[in-house]
Amino acid sequence: MTGHIATAPAKAPGPVLIMGAGSVGGYIGGCLQAAGATVDFVGRPRVLQTLRVHGLRVTDLDGAEHHIPAADLHLHEHVPAGLEPGLVLLCVKSPATADAARELAEQLPFNTLVVSMQNGMRNAQVAKTAAPGLRCMPGMVPYNIAELSPGHFHRGTTGHLAAQGGTELAAWQPVFAAAGIPLDVHADLSSIQWGKLLLNLNNPVNALSGLPLLAELLDVGHRRQFAALVQEALGVLAAAGIEPARLTPMPWWLFVKVLRLPTPLFRRIAARMLRIDPKARSSMADDLALGRVTEIDALSGEVVRLAASRGLHAPLNETMVARIRALH
Ligand SMILES: NC(=O)c1ccc[n+]([C@@H]2O[C@H](COP(=O)([O-])OP(=O)(O)OC[C@H]3O[C@@H](n4cnc5c(N)ncnc54)[C@H](OP(=O)(O)O)[C@@H]3O)[C@@H](O)[C@H]2O)c1
Repeated sequence: MTGHIATAPAKAPGPVLIMGAGSVGGYIGGCLQAAGATVDFVGRPRVLQTLRVHGLRVTDLDGAEHHIPAADLHLHEHVPAGLEPGLVLLCVKSPATADAARELAEQLPFNTLVVSMQNGMRNAQVAKTAAPGLRCMPGMVPYNIAELSPGHFHRGTTGHLAAQGGTELAAWQPVFAAAGIPLDVHADLSSIQWGKLLLNLNNPVNALSGLPLLAELLDVGHRRQFAALVQEALGVLAAAGIEPARLTPMPWWLFVKVLRLPTPLFRRIAARMLRIDPKARSSMADDLALGRVTEIDALSGEVVRLAASRGLHAPLNETMVARIRALH
Protein backbone atom coordinates (compact mmCIF):
# COMPACT_ATOMS: atom_id res chain seq x y z
CA MET A 1 0.00 0.00 0.00
CA THR A 2 1.21 3.48 -0.76
CA GLY A 3 0.08 6.89 0.37
CA HIS A 4 0.17 9.57 2.99
CA ILE A 5 -0.87 7.60 6.01
CA ALA A 6 1.06 8.54 9.14
CA THR A 7 3.54 5.90 10.20
CA ALA A 8 2.47 5.59 13.86
CA PRO A 9 -0.95 3.92 13.72
CA ALA A 10 -3.52 5.39 16.11
CA LYS A 11 -5.53 2.81 18.06
CA ALA A 12 -9.22 3.07 17.19
CA PRO A 13 -11.50 3.15 20.26
CA GLY A 14 -13.55 0.37 18.63
CA PRO A 15 -14.70 -1.06 15.31
CA VAL A 16 -16.27 1.27 12.74
CA LEU A 17 -19.50 0.47 10.91
CA ILE A 18 -20.14 2.14 7.56
CA MET A 19 -23.88 2.30 6.89
CA GLY A 20 -24.23 2.79 3.13
CA ALA A 21 -21.11 1.72 1.28
CA GLY A 22 -21.16 4.20 -1.60
CA SER A 23 -18.84 7.08 -2.47
CA VAL A 24 -18.55 8.61 1.01
CA GLY A 25 -18.78 5.33 2.92
CA GLY A 26 -16.36 3.56 0.58
CA TYR A 27 -13.80 6.35 0.70
CA ILE A 28 -13.88 7.09 4.44
CA GLY A 29 -14.22 3.43 5.42
CA GLY A 30 -11.38 2.49 3.07
CA CYS A 31 -9.08 5.19 4.48
CA LEU A 32 -9.86 4.11 8.07
CA GLN A 33 -9.27 0.43 7.33
CA ALA A 34 -6.05 1.21 5.46
CA ALA A 35 -4.90 3.00 8.64
CA GLY A 36 -5.57 -0.09 10.77
CA ALA A 37 -9.15 0.35 11.98
CA THR A 38 -11.56 -2.59 11.90
CA VAL A 39 -14.31 -1.58 9.50
CA ASP A 40 -17.60 -3.28 8.63
CA PHE A 41 -19.39 -2.13 5.49
CA VAL A 42 -23.16 -2.42 5.00
CA GLY A 43 -24.18 -1.85 1.41
CA ARG A 44 -26.34 -2.89 -1.49
CA PRO A 45 -25.71 -6.31 -3.07
CA ARG A 46 -24.62 -4.64 -6.35
CA VAL A 47 -21.95 -2.57 -4.55
CA LEU A 48 -20.79 -5.47 -2.38
CA GLN A 49 -20.43 -7.70 -5.41
CA THR A 50 -18.21 -5.08 -7.06
CA LEU A 51 -16.05 -4.92 -3.92
CA ARG A 52 -15.82 -8.72 -3.83
CA VAL A 53 -14.47 -8.68 -7.38
CA HIS A 54 -12.21 -5.61 -7.29
CA GLY A 55 -11.48 -5.02 -3.62
CA LEU A 56 -11.65 -1.41 -2.39
CA ARG A 57 -9.35 1.25 -3.79
CA VAL A 58 -9.20 4.77 -2.34
CA THR A 59 -7.23 7.61 -3.92
CA ASP A 60 -7.07 11.37 -3.60
CA LEU A 61 -5.98 14.39 -5.60
CA ASP A 62 -2.68 14.53 -3.68
CA GLY A 63 -1.70 11.11 -4.95
CA ALA A 64 -2.48 8.97 -1.88
CA GLU A 65 -3.57 5.48 -2.86
CA HIS A 66 -4.60 2.39 -0.89
CA HIS A 67 -5.97 -0.90 -2.08
CA ILE A 68 -7.72 -3.26 0.30
CA PRO A 69 -8.04 -6.76 -1.15
CA ALA A 70 -11.55 -8.20 -1.19
CA ALA A 71 -10.54 -10.93 1.26
CA ASP A 72 -9.80 -8.27 3.91
CA LEU A 73 -13.16 -6.51 3.60
CA HIS A 74 -16.03 -7.18 6.03
CA LEU A 75 -19.07 -6.80 3.77
CA HIS A 76 -22.72 -7.14 4.80
CA GLU A 77 -26.07 -6.72 3.05
CA HIS A 78 -27.69 -5.87 6.38
CA VAL A 79 -26.45 -4.75 9.76
CA PRO A 80 -25.27 -8.01 11.35
CA ALA A 81 -26.53 -8.97 14.79
CA GLY A 82 -23.94 -8.90 17.56
CA LEU A 83 -21.78 -6.04 16.25
CA GLU A 84 -20.72 -3.46 18.81
CA PRO A 85 -19.21 -0.64 16.76
CA GLY A 86 -17.55 2.22 18.58
CA LEU A 87 -18.62 4.51 15.76
CA VAL A 88 -21.21 4.25 12.99
CA LEU A 89 -20.88 6.52 9.97
CA LEU A 90 -24.23 7.02 8.30
CA CYS A 91 -23.39 7.46 4.61
CA VAL A 92 -26.66 6.92 2.73
CA LYS A 93 -28.36 9.66 0.68
CA SER A 94 -30.96 11.77 2.50
CA PRO A 95 -34.09 9.94 1.21
CA ALA A 96 -32.70 6.67 2.66
CA THR A 97 -31.88 8.02 6.14
CA ALA A 98 -34.92 6.90 8.14
CA ASP A 99 -34.87 3.31 6.84
CA ALA A 100 -31.13 3.02 7.41
CA ALA A 101 -31.43 4.39 10.96
CA ARG A 102 -34.23 1.95 11.80
CA GLU A 103 -32.11 -0.95 10.56
CA LEU A 104 -29.21 0.21 12.71
CA ALA A 105 -31.45 0.52 15.78
CA GLU A 106 -32.77 -3.03 15.34
CA GLN A 107 -29.29 -4.56 15.66
CA LEU A 108 -26.96 -2.22 17.53
CA PRO A 109 -26.62 -1.73 21.28
CA PHE A 110 -28.56 1.12 22.91
CA ASN A 111 -26.72 4.45 22.77
CA THR A 112 -24.36 3.51 19.92
CA LEU A 113 -22.72 6.64 18.52
CA VAL A 114 -23.83 7.38 14.94
CA VAL A 115 -22.47 10.30 12.93
CA SER A 116 -24.35 11.35 9.82
CA MET A 117 -21.81 12.13 7.10
CA GLN A 118 -24.61 13.40 4.89
CA ASN A 119 -25.33 16.74 3.28
CA GLY A 120 -28.31 18.83 4.33
CA MET A 121 -29.50 20.11 7.70
CA ARG A 122 -31.89 17.43 8.89
CA ASN A 123 -30.43 13.96 8.46
CA ALA A 124 -29.13 13.53 12.01
CA GLN A 125 -32.53 14.59 13.36
CA VAL A 126 -34.36 12.28 10.93
CA ALA A 127 -32.09 9.42 12.07
CA LYS A 128 -32.65 10.31 15.74
CA THR A 129 -36.42 10.29 15.28
CA ALA A 130 -36.32 6.96 13.45
CA ALA A 131 -33.86 5.45 15.94
CA PRO A 132 -34.30 7.13 19.35
CA GLY A 133 -32.13 4.47 21.03
CA LEU A 134 -29.02 5.56 19.11
CA ARG A 135 -26.98 8.73 19.61
CA CYS A 136 -27.17 10.39 16.19
CA MET A 137 -24.95 13.40 15.61
CA PRO A 138 -24.53 15.59 12.53
CA GLY A 139 -21.32 15.48 10.54
CA MET A 140 -20.01 17.20 7.43
CA VAL A 141 -17.92 15.97 4.51
CA PRO A 142 -16.37 18.99 2.81
CA TYR A 143 -14.92 17.25 -0.22
CA ASN A 144 -16.08 15.64 -3.39
CA ILE A 145 -15.81 11.87 -3.69
CA ALA A 146 -16.63 9.97 -6.85
CA GLU A 147 -16.47 6.31 -7.87
CA LEU A 148 -14.12 6.51 -10.82
CA SER A 149 -14.26 2.83 -11.70
CA PRO A 150 -15.83 -0.17 -9.96
CA GLY A 151 -14.67 -0.19 -6.33
CA HIS A 152 -12.42 2.86 -6.80
CA PHE A 153 -13.41 5.90 -4.71
CA HIS A 154 -11.53 9.11 -5.36
CA ARG A 155 -11.45 12.29 -3.29
CA GLY A 156 -11.24 15.14 -5.77
CA THR A 157 -11.12 18.19 -3.47
CA THR A 158 -9.69 19.11 -0.05
CA GLY A 159 -10.84 19.98 3.48
CA HIS A 160 -11.39 18.54 6.96
CA LEU A 161 -14.30 16.35 8.00
CA ALA A 162 -16.34 17.88 10.81
CA ALA A 163 -18.82 16.49 13.32
CA GLN A 164 -20.77 17.54 16.37
CA GLY A 165 -19.81 15.84 19.59
CA GLY A 166 -17.77 15.77 22.76
CA THR A 167 -14.94 13.78 24.26
CA GLU A 168 -16.12 10.40 22.95
CA LEU A 169 -15.92 11.63 19.37
CA ALA A 170 -12.71 13.53 20.07
CA ALA A 171 -11.12 10.17 20.95
CA TRP A 172 -11.50 9.25 17.26
CA GLN A 173 -9.63 12.27 15.98
CA PRO A 174 -6.15 10.64 16.03
CA VAL A 175 -7.56 7.70 14.06
CA PHE A 176 -9.01 9.95 11.37
CA ALA A 177 -5.83 12.03 11.30
CA ALA A 178 -3.69 8.90 10.88
CA ALA A 179 -5.99 7.84 8.03
CA GLY A 180 -5.27 11.10 6.21
CA ILE A 181 -8.85 12.34 6.68
CA PRO A 182 -8.65 14.76 9.66
CA LEU A 183 -11.85 15.23 11.65
CA ASP A 184 -12.71 18.48 13.45
CA VAL A 185 -15.09 18.13 16.41
CA HIS A 186 -17.48 20.98 17.30
CA ALA A 187 -19.96 21.52 20.10
CA ASP A 188 -22.51 22.75 17.54
CA LEU A 189 -22.27 22.01 13.83
CA SER A 190 -25.24 23.97 12.48
CA SER A 191 -23.38 27.01 11.09
CA ILE A 192 -20.88 24.65 9.39
CA GLN A 193 -23.77 22.62 7.95
CA TRP A 194 -25.35 25.80 6.59
CA GLY A 195 -21.99 26.77 5.07
CA LYS A 196 -21.77 23.37 3.40
CA LEU A 197 -25.35 23.68 2.20
CA LEU A 198 -24.50 26.99 0.51
CA LEU A 199 -21.66 25.27 -1.37
CA ASN A 200 -24.01 22.41 -2.25
CA LEU A 201 -26.30 24.86 -4.05
CA ASN A 202 -23.91 24.25 -6.93
CA ASN A 203 -24.95 20.57 -7.07
CA PRO A 204 -28.13 21.15 -9.11
CA VAL A 205 -26.29 23.65 -11.35
CA ASN A 206 -23.62 21.03 -11.93
CA ALA A 207 -26.13 18.23 -12.48
CA LEU A 208 -28.05 20.28 -15.07
CA SER A 209 -24.82 21.38 -16.79
CA GLY A 210 -23.74 17.81 -17.57
CA LEU A 211 -20.12 18.88 -16.98
CA PRO A 212 -17.46 17.75 -14.51
CA LEU A 213 -17.20 20.13 -11.51
CA LEU A 214 -14.07 21.95 -12.66
CA ALA A 215 -15.33 22.53 -16.20
CA GLU A 216 -18.66 23.76 -14.86
CA LEU A 217 -17.00 26.21 -12.46
CA LEU A 218 -14.87 27.54 -15.29
CA ASP A 219 -18.02 28.55 -17.15
CA VAL A 220 -19.16 32.03 -16.18
CA GLY A 221 -22.82 31.34 -16.95
CA HIS A 222 -22.97 28.36 -14.59
CA ARG A 223 -20.98 30.26 -11.96
CA ARG A 224 -23.39 33.18 -12.04
CA GLN A 225 -26.32 30.79 -11.64
CA PHE A 226 -24.60 29.29 -8.58
CA ALA A 227 -23.83 32.80 -7.25
CA ALA A 228 -27.48 33.83 -7.57
CA LEU A 229 -28.64 30.77 -5.60
CA VAL A 230 -26.09 31.48 -2.85
CA GLN A 231 -26.96 35.15 -2.70
CA GLU A 232 -30.65 34.37 -2.37
CA ALA A 233 -29.91 31.83 0.37
CA LEU A 234 -27.68 34.32 2.21
CA GLY A 235 -30.59 36.78 2.27
CA VAL A 236 -32.88 34.13 3.75
CA LEU A 237 -30.28 33.11 6.35
CA ALA A 238 -29.73 36.75 7.34
CA ALA A 239 -33.48 37.21 7.77
CA ALA A 240 -33.50 34.13 10.00
CA GLY A 241 -30.53 35.37 12.05
CA ILE A 242 -28.32 32.46 10.93
CA GLU A 243 -24.67 33.07 10.18
CA PRO A 244 -23.25 30.34 7.94
CA ALA A 245 -19.66 29.31 8.63
CA ARG A 246 -17.12 30.28 6.05
CA LEU A 247 -15.81 27.15 4.33
CA THR A 248 -13.57 28.89 1.80
CA PRO A 249 -10.85 31.49 2.43
CA MET A 250 -13.39 34.21 1.47
CA PRO A 251 -16.31 35.71 3.39
CA TRP A 252 -19.59 34.79 1.71
CA TRP A 253 -20.26 38.23 0.19
CA LEU A 254 -16.87 38.09 -1.52
CA PHE A 255 -17.39 34.47 -2.57
CA VAL A 256 -20.52 35.51 -4.46
CA LYS A 257 -18.72 38.45 -6.03
CA VAL A 258 -15.77 36.32 -7.12
CA LEU A 259 -18.06 33.69 -8.70
CA ARG A 260 -19.46 36.44 -10.93
CA LEU A 261 -16.06 37.60 -12.25
CA PRO A 262 -15.04 36.87 -15.84
CA THR A 263 -13.32 33.49 -16.04
CA PRO A 264 -9.68 34.64 -16.50
CA LEU A 265 -9.96 36.81 -13.37
CA PHE A 266 -11.87 34.11 -11.49
CA ARG A 267 -9.14 31.60 -12.32
CA ARG A 268 -6.51 33.85 -10.75
CA ILE A 269 -8.42 34.91 -7.63
CA ALA A 270 -10.07 31.57 -6.88
CA ALA A 271 -7.04 29.38 -7.57
CA ARG A 272 -7.47 27.62 -4.20
CA MET A 273 -11.17 27.07 -4.72
CA LEU A 274 -10.30 25.51 -8.07
CA ARG A 275 -8.09 22.86 -6.51
CA ILE A 276 -10.49 20.32 -7.92
CA ASP A 277 -9.54 17.17 -9.71
CA PRO A 278 -10.74 17.39 -13.34
CA LYS A 279 -12.51 14.05 -12.78
CA ALA A 280 -14.66 15.27 -9.85
CA ARG A 281 -18.39 15.61 -10.48
CA SER A 282 -21.45 16.21 -8.34
CA SER A 283 -23.21 13.04 -7.24
CA MET A 284 -26.55 14.69 -8.08
CA ALA A 285 -25.59 14.23 -11.73
CA ASP A 286 -25.08 10.51 -11.03
CA ASP A 287 -28.43 10.31 -9.24
CA LEU A 288 -30.22 11.80 -12.23
CA ALA A 289 -28.35 9.57 -14.66
CA LEU A 290 -29.34 6.49 -12.63
CA GLY A 291 -32.97 7.59 -12.22
CA ARG A 292 -32.62 7.98 -8.42
CA VAL A 293 -34.41 10.55 -6.26
CA THR A 294 -31.91 13.37 -5.69
CA GLU A 295 -31.18 15.31 -2.50
CA ILE A 296 -32.57 18.57 -3.94
CA ASP A 297 -35.19 18.75 -1.16
CA ALA A 298 -32.43 18.66 1.46
CA LEU A 299 -30.44 21.42 -0.30
CA SER A 300 -32.35 24.14 -2.24
CA GLY A 301 -35.50 22.76 -0.61
CA GLU A 302 -34.10 23.66 2.82
CA VAL A 303 -33.61 27.29 1.70
CA VAL A 304 -37.18 27.38 0.38
CA ARG A 305 -38.53 26.00 3.68
CA LEU A 306 -36.52 28.45 5.78
CA ALA A 307 -37.76 31.33 3.60
CA ALA A 308 -41.36 30.16 3.98
CA SER A 309 -40.97 29.91 7.76
CA ARG A 310 -40.12 33.66 7.74
CA GLY A 311 -42.93 34.61 5.35
CA LEU A 312 -40.37 35.04 2.55
CA HIS A 313 -39.82 33.52 -0.88
CA ALA A 314 -36.68 32.07 -2.44
CA PRO A 315 -37.80 31.92 -6.08
CA LEU A 316 -34.45 30.91 -7.58
CA ASN A 317 -34.02 27.99 -5.21
CA GLU A 318 -37.70 27.14 -5.65
CA THR A 319 -37.21 26.97 -9.43
CA MET A 320 -34.16 24.76 -8.96
CA VAL A 321 -36.19 22.35 -6.81
CA ALA A 322 -38.87 22.22 -9.50
CA ARG A 323 -36.38 21.72 -12.36
CA ILE A 324 -34.57 18.86 -10.63
CA ARG A 325 -37.78 17.23 -9.38
CA ALA A 326 -39.11 17.26 -12.93
CA LEU A 327 -36.17 15.01 -13.86
CA HIS A 328 -36.77 12.48 -11.04
N1 LIG B 1 -20.15 11.96 -2.89
C1 LIG B 1 -19.77 13.11 -2.43
O1 LIG B 1 -18.90 13.76 -3.01
C2 LIG B 1 -20.31 13.67 -1.17
C3 LIG B 1 -19.60 14.69 -0.52
C4 LIG B 1 -20.10 15.21 0.66
C5 LIG B 1 -21.27 14.72 1.19
N2 LIG B 1 -21.94 13.77 0.52
C6 LIG B 1 -23.19 13.30 1.13
O2 LIG B 1 -22.97 12.00 1.66
C7 LIG B 1 -24.17 11.21 1.57
C8 LIG B 1 -23.85 9.94 0.79
O3 LIG B 1 -23.48 10.31 -0.54
P1 LIG B 1 -22.76 9.31 -1.53
O4 LIG B 1 -22.35 10.12 -2.69
O5 LIG B 1 -21.77 8.49 -0.80
O6 LIG B 1 -24.00 8.37 -1.92
P2 LIG B 1 -23.95 6.95 -2.66
O7 LIG B 1 -22.71 6.82 -3.45
O8 LIG B 1 -25.28 6.80 -3.34
O9 LIG B 1 -23.83 5.92 -1.46
C9 LIG B 1 -24.87 5.54 -0.62
C10 LIG B 1 -25.04 4.04 -0.74
O10 LIG B 1 -25.82 3.59 0.35
C11 LIG B 1 -26.73 2.63 -0.15
N3 LIG B 1 -27.84 2.46 0.80
C12 LIG B 1 -28.94 3.23 0.99
N4 LIG B 1 -29.68 2.72 2.00
C13 LIG B 1 -29.05 1.61 2.43
C14 LIG B 1 -29.33 0.63 3.42
N5 LIG B 1 -30.42 0.71 4.19
N6 LIG B 1 -28.47 -0.38 3.59
C15 LIG B 1 -27.35 -0.47 2.82
N7 LIG B 1 -27.03 0.40 1.86
C16 LIG B 1 -27.87 1.43 1.67
C17 LIG B 1 -27.16 3.23 -1.47
O11 LIG B 1 -27.84 2.30 -2.26
P3 LIG B 1 -29.09 2.79 -3.17
O12 LIG B 1 -28.52 3.73 -4.19
O13 LIG B 1 -29.62 1.54 -3.73
O14 LIG B 1 -30.05 3.50 -2.25
C18 LIG B 1 -25.80 3.61 -2.02
O15 LIG B 1 -25.15 2.51 -2.60
C19 LIG B 1 -25.20 12.13 0.90
O16 LIG B 1 -25.95 12.80 1.85
C20 LIG B 1 -24.33 13.13 0.14
O17 LIG B 1 -24.97 14.38 -0.08
C21 LIG B 1 -21.51 13.21 -0.63
